Amino acid sequence: MNNLNNKKILLIICGGIAAYKSLEIIRLLKKSGVIIKTILTKNGSEFVTPLSITSLSQSKVYQDLFSLENEVEMDHITLSRWADLILIAPATANTISKLANGNSDDLASTVALASNKKIFIAPAMNVRMWEHNSTKENIDKLKTYNYKLIGPETGDMACGEYGEGKMSEPKDIVSELENYFKDLKNNNKLKAIVTAGPTNEYIDPVRFITNRSSGKQGYEIAKSLSKRGFDTTLISGPTNLKIDNDVKLIKVETAEEMFQATLKSLPADIAIFSAAVSDFKLKEISKTKIKSQDSLNLKFEKNIDILNYVSHHNSLRPKLVIGFAAETNNLKDYANKKLIEKNCDWIIANDVSNKKIGFYSDFNEVSIFYKNKKSNKLTYKHKSKISDEIVEKIIDHLN
Ligand SMILES: Cc1cc2nc3c(=O)[nH]c(=O)nc-3n(C[C@H](O)[C@H](O)[C@H](O)COP(=O)(O)O)c2cc1C
Repeated sequence: MNNLNNKKILLIICGGIAAYKSLEIIRLLKKSGVIIKTILTKNGSEFVTPLSITSLSQSKVYQDLFSLENEVEMDHITLSRWADLILIAPATANTISKLANGNSDDLASTVALASNKKIFIAPAMNVRMWEHNSTKENIDKLKTYNYKLIGPETGDMACGEYGEGKMSEPKDIVSELENYFKDLKNNNKLKAIVTAGPTNEYIDPVRFITNRSSGKQGYEIAKSLSKRGFDTTLISGPTNLKIDNDVKLIKVETAEEMFQATLKSLPADIAIFSAAVSDFKLKEISKTKIKSQDSLNLKFEKNIDILNYVSHHNSLRPKLVIGFAAETNNLKDYANKKLIEKNCDWIIANDVSNKKIGFYSDFNEVSIFYKNKKSNKLTYKHKSKISDEIVEKIIDHLN
């Protein structure tokens, strides 16, 4: 089965000697039914011509960031949104460095920076360039930004030297892309539920107790899951956030409503409990508005623990149960304790004592604790990127 048929791929060709191999990539992709658009860097055009690319891809080659004609027809943002996937092959040390550092001084780097799609890079360069610490650091950064690396391989180089840095063969690059789309299709059969946001526990008809959870991280996880092909349901406490149409959104207010919505959405293959569910609810909710008085004596009782209920359930428990732990101290100890007590497969923990991350912030830094292996730290970055990395790990785990 050809998983590439009718897929839209944006190929970025940089200025390396391996650029001639990009023509073969285009030929193979075309043969598989891919719709291709190409960006050729200024230096890339020293190695291959727009004419040969257009002839093979049967579509226009984009070269200039500041082109009135392109801006009218398809501007750089639209171009980045158009693609199902971006492939940079060959990826030069220069372009890799630009992407790792957020530089965007030409069309290729601007489109890559503006993209919300998976970006594959196939580096190609001299062995010394590849082994240089700066390139290594840049590649490590790109991995944490969720770029997917293809190659490079070890072998004889065009410059006459031998070592690691050769671009992977076009057929291997195309087969990696095919696998990616196959994953997407397989994931499509998998159902994921995500809980997000705070809950409101009512005191009387006009007052409630809530918490500072914004729901942003949970919403981003639902988006990332959906982007990677999972049939995704988001059960959200009260937030003002928006979610893409392909995520099924169930809005709830109280912990009890979130619990009922979770039960209705099960069975699922994966459940991610990122909501900050109130531990307590009022023992009795006043039916009428409580009048002003000198003091108020409220009685609480324990709320249902949704994560604990689902993770210990014999028949409803998803294959992969991921809990969240927002802590202000002893992060590691609390996360490991929760992992065991709540029978989770993973706990994603973040330190909410730091105002720059966690609650309300668009940025986060989390650690993932597993049952049988060493924890991972996902360093400070936008919550959308943290989610992409979490979902990448989920896919690796499922595979
Ligand atoms: C003949 C020749 C071959 C080159 N091959 C490579 C290469 O394989 N990989 C690489 O990273 N740079 C290579 N370079 C250097 C790049 O062309 C240069 O760094 C350029 O700035 C890259 O621009 P771009 O990343 O915008 O395409 C080569 C340069 C020359 C003159």
